[in-house]
Amino acid sequence: MTDSLQAAALAVRENAHAPYSKFRVGAALEDTGGRVHTGCNVENATYGLTLCAERVAVFKAISEGAREFRRIAIAADTDILTPPCGACRQILWEFCGDIEMVLVNLHGKSETLRLKELFPRAFDASFL
Ligand code: THU
Repeated sequence: MTDSLQAAALAVRENAHAPYSKFRVGAALEDTGGRVHTGCNVENATYGLTLCAERVAVFKAISEGAREFRRIAIAADTDILTPPCGACRQILWEFCGDIEMVLVNLHGKSETLRLKELFPRAFDASFL
């Protein structure tokens, strides 16, 4: 069943600026106060300056003052559910720790997992 966080990720996916890849992604990040911070992927003609939906959601949340997070939903139009890329895993680990993640597609298929399952043995501030 699609819950409201998944619905927010699916809705913001519609705003994706993805003229190059045509691959649209939406993310919805819930903070511990219950506020939802959304993001879509924003591509650039240089390609390399593209930002993924997950990082847009995290950076929007941080810049709004949010610091503690509960869950993130990530939506894409793939049968095999789309996981966050490596760069996004690093950023999510930094700001959200071992957060609960819900991957969802347009047909309502979803899977819930923890970031640590996708990103074991992370490098982070504890090494510095
Ligand atoms: N993308 C995301 O936004 N999130 C992911 O988890 C995977 C990839 C975007 C980046 C780029 O705009 C497009 O999908 C194709 O890689």
